Amino acid sequence: MGIDVGASGIKGGIVDTTTGEMLTERLKVATPMPATPMAMARAFKELVNMHQWKDGLIGVGFPSIVINGIALSAANIDAQWIGTNIEKIFGDFTGCPVVAVNDADAAGIAEIQFGVGKGEGGTVILITIGSGLGSAVFTDGHLVRNTEFGHFILKGKVAEHYASDKVRQEEKLSWDEWGERFNSYLLHLNRLISPNLIILGGGTSKKFAKFSQKITLDVPIKVANYRNKAGAIGAAIYASQEMGKRNASAEAQVIE
Ligand code: BGC
Repeated sequence: MGIDVGASGIKGGIVDTTTGEMLTERLKVATPMPATPMAMARAFKELVNMHQWKDGLIGVGFPSIVINGIALSAANIDAQWIGTNIEKIFGDFTGCPVVAVNDADAAGIAEIQFGVGKGEGGTVILITIGSGLGSAVFTDGHLVRNTEFGHFILKGKVAEHYASDKVRQEEKLSWDEWGERFNSYLLHLNRLISPNLIILGGGTSKKFAKFSQKITLDVPIKVANYRNKAGAIGAAIYASQEMGKRNASAEAQVIE
């Protein structure tokens, strides 16, 4: 099962990790406010139960830096998450093995392996546009985990406080006004990393036609194939690959 934990919703379904296809409807429960570990674990369990998923592996795309299953930042969730083991808390609540990965990295994995990024060489960067701005960077198909390109400083602010979809809604910006901000964001990103291709993901990528006229960047841009399903699909793919590696390393230790 793949689950995308977001600042506003926890969404997921059963995924065929060999084809990247979601086999069930993508169901959603609202992210509780405040988004504390306990409250989120309860909502997470509810989603798992809605799918009647028992004992099986769950991949979680989580909106923070994730190292060894532990959340190391909390930009759009409760600060109690910092230092919390995501895999343990969600695993304990559901009774299922859980593998966690940054949510934008998860979306990138789905797009690189089965979506619009498939076969793309060079530097490919996926940006998710939602409550925050998430990033996933691939070089010749290899993921550089935990990049936080929503957090560089742009116009004196953390970039996602200037150009996320949440800011567009909160400041009631028109698509043209917000499009100009997002264009400044992409121009700066290009100065930092010179990508060969940019993929736009997250809910707002569906509305690309509303702001594409404001984008002046001379780098190819594609809209994510899986749109807002990418995070859940990529999390499931990551979990199955990562679990394979963890099992192989555990076996190697037993042989030693
Ligand atoms: C977080 C990232 C996350 C992004 C999208 C940002 O605020 O720092 O880790 O990928 O939001 O959810």
